[in-house]
Amino acid sequence: MATLDLFAMPPSEDRDHLDSLRAQLHTLAHQYYVLDAPTLPDAEYDRLFRELQALESAHPDWLTPDSPTQRVGGKPLDQFAAVRHAVPMLSIRTETDTESTGAQAFDTRVRKELELLDTDASVEYVAELKFDGLAINLRYENGVLVQAATRGDGENGEDVTQNIRTIGQIPLKIGAPTLAATRAALPPEGARSALGRPGGGTSLSTADVPQVLEVRGEVYMRRDDFEVLNEQQRAKGDKSFVNPRNAAAGAVRQLDPGIAAQRPLSFFAYGVGEVAPQAVGSLFATHMQLLQTLKSWGFPVAEQTRVVHGAGELVAFHQNIALTRDQLPYDIDGVVYKLNSLALQQRLGFVTREPRWAVAHKFPAQEQLTRVLAIDVQVGRTGKLTPVARLEPVFVGGTTVSNATLHNLFEVRKKDVRVGDQVIVRRAGDVIPEVVGRVASGSGVSGPTPRQPYVPNFSLPALCPVCGSAVVREKGQANHRCVGGLFCNAQCKQAILHFGQRRAVEIEGLGDKLVEQMVDANVIRTLPDLYRLGFGALVGLERMADKSAQNIVDALEKSKQTTLPRFLFGLGIRHVGEATAKELARHFGGLDAIMDAPEEVLLQVNDVGPIVAKSIRTFFDQAHNREVVDQLRACGIRWEEGAATSDAPKPLAGKTFVLTGTLPTLGRDDAKDMIEAAGGKVSGSVSKKTSYVVAGTEAGSKLTRAQELGVAVLDEAALLEMLK
Ligand code: IVH
Repeated sequence: MATLDLFAMPPSEDRDHLDSLRAQLHTLAHQYYVLDAPTLPDAEYDRLFRELQALESAHPDWLTPDSPTQRVGGKPLDQFAAVRHAVPMLSIRTETDTESTGAQAFDTRVRKELELLDTDASVEYVAELKFDGLAINLRYENGVLVQAATRGDGENGEDVTQNIRTIGQIPLKIGAPTLAATRAALPPEGARSALGRPGGGTSLSTADVPQVLEVRGEVYMRRDDFEVLNEQQRAKGDKSFVNPRNAAAGAVRQLDPGIAAQRPLSFFAYGVGEVAPQAVGSLFATHMQLLQTLKSWGFPVAEQTRVVHGAGELVAFHQNIALTRDQLPYDIDGVVYKLNSLALQQRLGFVTREPRWAVAHKFPAQEQLTRVLAIDVQVGRTGKLTPVARLEPVFVGGTTVSNATLHNLFEVRKKDVRVGDQVIVRRAGDVIPEVVGRVASGSGVSGPTPRQPYVPNFSLPALCPVCGSAVVREKGQANHRCVGGLFCNAQCKQAILHFGQRRAVEIEGLGDKLVEQMVDANVIRTLPDLYRLGFGALVGLERMADKSAQNIVDALEKSKQTTLPRFLFGLGIRHVGEATAKELARHFGGLDAIMDAPEEVLLQVNDVGPIVAKSIRTFFDQAHNREVVDQLRACGIRWEEGAATSDAPKPLAGKTFVLTGTLPTLGRDDAKDMIEAAGGKVSGSVSKKTSYVVAGTEAGSKLTRAQELGVAVLDEAALLEMLK
C-alpha cells in the first residue's frame, strides 16, 4: 500500500504522488459535489484524502492553499477583512410586475435602446434562474482560488475566503476536473438546453484560464439541507433559521470556519467580475459561451439556463419555471434575463448601479406578512394538538391563506408569536402554510407593531378541547397528544377520513363534511360502524338526498375489495405510511403474521426501525385495535393475501421511476404498486437520479425534463416487459 512505504519514497516521487493525489481528489470532489455523480465509494475517497494529508504533513513546505485538504480549517476570526471589489458588484433592476407584461416591458426597452425597428429580428437573451441566496465574488489568480468576498455595498465587501473554501462545489483550483467528467454531465446532443452545446464557438480549455478571473454567483442552501440543519439546530437547542437564504447568509458570515463547514452550502455561477489581462469581450462573444466555459472549468451552472429569442420566449421561460419552481431542490424568487451578446451588453451599459442589459423578473412571493387574529388548537388523527394561527387573509404562494400551522407549543414559544403580532407566513407548493416567525415590533416593515402585553404567552390546554380527555406529552417529545383515542370526536373523524381516503381503501364521496355530520350525530363511532350503516341511517341524516345516500352505500361496498397495503395504511398506525405498509405486506404476505410479529421480526422489514416496529407492536397489542380489524373483516373487507415475498426477486431494486401522462391500461396507482412490488421507487419529479420516466399520452413537463436530462423514457409495454 502506498501509505505504508510513504517515507521510503524518494522526495521527487513523493512530490509526483502528491500532485497526482491532489488532481485525483479535485476530480473526485467535482464529480461528487458538482456533477452529483460520484465514481468512487466514499471510503475510497477518504483513504486518498488521508494519504494526501499524511504526505503534506511529512512535507509541510509543499502545502498550498488549493490543496483539497485546505477546505476545512483555519482559526476563528475576530472580524472579516474588508475587500474592495476590482469591478463593482452591481445589483439588477427588478421587474415587479410578475405577469408576462414584465418580460415584454424589458424587451421593448432593450429594442428601443438598440434602436431596432419592428421589422428587425428578435433579440437574443440568456434566461437564468434568480437564486435566493447571497452574491459572492470568487477571485482566481493563475487558476487558484485566492479570495472570496461578499457583495457588501457593491464597492466593498467582506473577505469570507475561509468559509467559502468549505463549499465542495466551488473549485479551489480551476481545471482540475477531467474533460470526460464534464462531458458526462452535459445534456445529450439535441436536448434543448443550450448549456452543453458550444453554440457558435467552442469553450476555452482549462489551459486558457485567464491569469485573473473573478467568478460571480450565488451561494445558497438547498431546501433539504436546510431542513436537516434546522433539525440539528433544534436538537442542540440552538435557534433555527427562518429560511434557506438566512441560513446561507449566516453560514457565509460565520466567523468560525469550523462552524461554517458544518453548514451545507451550494453554489451557482452566473457571471464574472475582473478578467485580466485579456478583456472578457475578447475571450467570449456571448454570455452563454461564458457560462458554458465556466461550467467546463468546474463551476456549477444551473441546467435550466437557456438562450431565448424575443419577448415571447422570455414569457414562456418565466411561465415554465414558475410551474416547475416547487420541484427545484432550492428556492428561487424569479428569473433573470440577460442580453446574450457581450458587445451589445457593453453598448447598453449601466444606469446608476444597474445594467441596462439585464432584468430580474420575479414570481409571486411564497412568503408574506400578515397579522395573527387568534391562535386555536386543532386535534389531529393521532391526537396531536397543533396550534394553528388564524390570520388576516393574505395572498401567498398562489392562494389566499387564512390559517397556518405553528407546529407545536415549543415552536410557538420559540417564535414568541402572540395574537396581534405581525408574522411571516410561508406557503410553497403543496406544503401546509406555516408561520415562519414574527416580525419584531418596530422593525419598520409596516409601522411599529405595538405588542399586547396583556396577552399571555401561549400554552396548550391540559384537557383536550374536543373531548376533554387528558393531554400528555411523552418525555423528550415536542408534541402534546390527547389520550382520548377514538373516544375523541376529532380523532375519530380524522381516523375515518384517513381510512376512506383515496390512497387507503377509497370510499368515494366520504368527505369531511359528511364524516363530521355522522360522528357528531353519533351515527358512527368506529370504522366498522361505517360498514354497518345502511341506506336508512344515511338518508336519515340532514340534507341527505336518496341518491347521495345510495352513492355512499355503493362506494362503501366497492371499498370492501382492497389490498393489504391499503388496508394497513388505512388503519392509521403511527409511523406507518403508504411505503411502510407496502413493505410490511410484501415481507409478511398476510395480516395475521404482521399482527403477531414480535418487534425483532418487524425490524427485519425494509425501512422499519425501532420506533416504527414499536409503534406497530403497540397498536396490535391493544385489544380494541384487534377488535376493529376483526370486525372490519367480518363486515366483508377483503384482500388477496400472498406468500411472504421478502426473498422474492426485485428486478427494479435501486431504480427510480417517474410516471407521467395517461398509460393505455394501467392506472397511476397500479403502475406505482407494480414498480414498488418489484423493488423500484416512484418519485414525483424528474432529476439526474431518475432511472426511467414512464410516459403515456399527454405527458407534460416531466417528459420534456427527462429528455433534457437524457433520462430513459419507457412506454407502458416497456415497463411491463421490465416487470416480467
Ligand atoms: S446577475 C450585473 N444573475 O440577484 C448583474 N444575479 O441584484 C449582476 N442573483 O444579489 C447580477 N440570481 O446575487 C444575476 N442569475 C442571476 C442571479 C442573480 C440571483 C442575485 C444576485 C444579487 C441580485 C442582483
